[in-house]
Amino acid sequence: NWTMDDFINQQIEKIRATVGDKKVLLGLSGGVDSSVVGVLLHKAIGTQLTSIFVDHGLLRKGEADQVMESLEGKFGLNIVKVDAQKRFLDKLAGVSDPEKKRKIIGNEFIQVFDEEATKLHGIDFLAQGTLYTDVIESGTSTAQTIKSHHNVGGLPEDMQFKLIEPLRTLFKDETRELGEKLGMPHDLVWRQPFPGPGLGIRVIGEVTEEKLKIVRDSDYILRDEIKKAGLDKEIWQYFTVLPGFRSVGVMGDGRTYDYTIGIRAVTSIDGMTADFAKIDWDVLQKISVRIVNEVDHVNRVVYDTTSKPPATIEWE
Ligand code: XMP
Repeated sequence: NWTMDDFINQQIEKIRATVGDKKVLLGLSGGVDSSVVGVLLHKAIGTQLTSIFVDHGLLRKGEADQVMESLEGKFGLNIVKVDAQKRFLDKLAGVSDPEKKRKIIGNEFIQVFDEEATKLHGIDFLAQGTLYTDVIESGTSTAQTIKSHHNVGGLPEDMQFKLIEPLRTLFKDETRELGEKLGMPHDLVWRQPFPGPGLGIRVIGEVTEEKLKIVRDSDYILRDEIKKAGLDKEIWQYFTVLPGFRSVGVMGDGRTYDYTIGIRAVTSIDGMTADFAKIDWDVLQKISVRIVNEVDHVNRVVYDTTSKPPATIEWE
């Protein structure tokens, strides 16, 4: 009769047995998975854990601050935060292929991480928030050819660390249950899944600072209204994408020629399959009106009504 308490105790014992008096490094992404790993490891080995939080500038609005406040402030994790937005933008300039973008973001992430890691001494282990779903999708299944998930594999050959992946057997819902059991704040635990490449794959095509801002600001409005409507627990993921084409609109007395924002919202159990969320028209209208009014360079909002399959959850 397996319970989450058993899991926690087993993992803590296992982590302690594996780590001994050595040091562990964790890459925090800002998402649920790595945060849960951080709190679990901190519980198991305390100050033997150092976390590196690479802010690639592709996070959602306010997210980096929240991570720091919660994990460093509340839980007392030792976090090295790196502001690397410019580096990522420079590397992404001129690149529009989704898989190339993923590779660039993944590689740059590892490089920044590696640079910071080498400044620390005597680290033997690297912890990661890999979930069972990541293992499957990056494994031998056909999903591998659909998308490469940069949070599994991709580590350079010469990296000296041994891996610790305590969530490898868990699905997302189990990871959240684990987070709750560990006493993590509700809104952090229930934070929707967010891809490693972040807003970088929600700006379709080439990523620029201007486009990132449009996605980030529209996403913020969407999240605000979904929360106000009380739908944040029901919907698995909800976010905006910027397809990058422009269309004609009219505002005041003038004709506009501006960007379209796509809203993606899906219900799902584990992200492997998903249905588009049947959000009330009036909620969608409120979101749409706010985005056009409050975000510069947007004159049209569309809603994605495809499920997975045949579409994927993300647009890239
Ligand atoms: P798709 O778009 O494949 O997404 O239906 C399934 C789940 O995976 C997330 N996702 C990613 N996560 N790196 C990640 O860490 C990625 O490159 C990536 N691509 C998709 C997506 O947000 C959804 O939860």
